[in-house]
Amino acid sequence: VAQLIFCLGREPLLSLAELCSYSEAEEWNTAISRLGTDIASVQVDSAVDPQRTVRRLGGTVKIAEVVEQSDHVPDPGTIASMIVERLRPPSPGRKAVFGLSSYPASRSQDNTLKQIASLVKKQLEQEQVASRYVLPIRGNTLSSAQVIENQLIMNGAEFLLARVDNQLLLAQTMAVQPVTEEADRDMRKPVRRLREGLLPPKVARMLVNLARKPDTRSLLDPFCGSGVVLMEAALLGIHAVGSDRSGEALSAARRNLDWLLADAKHEDNQPYRLIHTKAENLSLRLPPLSIDAAVTEPYLGPPLSAALPVDRAKSLSIELSKMYTRALAEIRIVLRPGGRCVFVTPIFRTAKGFHGVNLTKHLPLIGFHEYNPLRSCRGINERESLCHSRPRQRVLRRILVLESRPE
Ligand SMILES: C[S@@+](CC[C@H](N)C(=O)[O-])C[C@H]1O[C@@H](n2cnc3c(N)ncnc32)[C@H](O)[C@@H]1O
Repeated sequence: VAQLIFCLGREPLLSLAELCSYSEAEEWNTAISRLGTDIASVQVDSAVDPQRTVRRLGGTVKIAEVVEQSDHVPDPGTIASMIVERLRPPSPGRKAVFGLSSYPASRSQDNTLKQIASLVKKQLEQEQVASRYVLPIRGNTLSSAQVIENQLIMNGAEFLLARVDNQLLLAQTMAVQPVTEEADRDMRKPVRRLREGLLPPKVARMLVNLARKPDTRSLLDPFCGSGVVLMEAALLGIHAVGSDRSGEALSAARRNLDWLLADAKHEDNQPYRLIHTKAENLSLRLPPLSIDAAVTEPYLGPPLSAALPVDRAKSLSIELSKMYTRALAEIRIVLRPGGRCVFVTPIFRTAKGFHGVNLTKHLPLIGFHEYNPLRSCRGINERESLCHSRPRQRVLRRILVLESRPE
């Protein structure tokens, strides 16, 4: 059994919810604890492969193994000795390379990192070992790109110093998100941008993992657009079923999926299916109870060049909530009992605060209830809603995780 630290990305609560749902889908049978805003700890057995796990999660940036735990924060010299003890000797003629990060992540630089790094270098010099260290360019954590560029996992080491209450956890990074590979895939895909809003692939991956259960084999996106969600499902080996009312969107999705699936590097590729239909008529085209899960970002309203006036935000929300209710009722018909549906709704930033679509009272009538993926996570006090936003965005995304009532 190992204690792993998961470093959570830009949207830490959503990333944590994804991790909790993922651990259930993978049947890890473990408790997950939030240790701070952006790290979580998980006890796992040796069957869990950090490389594979970090590649399959959208919101986890690094996975590290705890190598030392002390009930106080030791002085820099002691921490440096702990690190020296853990460093593998470099191969002949090479320098030992190590990197340091501290958590929780912050924008300001942590001067003790530099101090510890110099002490490690000095201690190594006394042992006749030449070394080189890598420190964060910005803030106090090394980026995944820095870890990859400096080959810290294969030919060196990165150590994380996590301060939790008054304790220190020293962890060694086992795997980082393959950021360059992912960015490259996103840049190279045939159709990048339709007129309508685009979900970032990492967010789409998080949503797919939130919808997954141990036996999820198929996943539907009834507003599939250019297929961002479908591609992420396909990369996880899930049979992707997309529908859209626009033929242009469907041909974009087809080009993207064909391109993705032609690349033999991806594991477990499954074929996909695309259907030309409005979401409101979905059950005419798919058999009842035939789909395991659904993930969708529906039409979120017209593109906005300025904040909406409050009245317009209210009327638009009512209009959208009618369409969403009809689409959800159709999803419910084709989804198998107990199947999960992750549904994005908009929150509009108005001049007088936020206004969003509220579906709460419609859900029980349709046969859905809200499912809280964080319910068994330690260190979470109350039900926080899952959102995704970027600074100055006019439309924020609220993420609803729904479960269809078992029959
Ligand atoms: C917000 S976009 C989805 C974008 C998608 N997540 C992506 O990143 O490519 C909405 C999509 O919904 C489609 N759409 C809008 N209203 C629809 C409806 N009533 N039924 C089915 N599709 C609809 C549009 O054609 C568009 O492709």
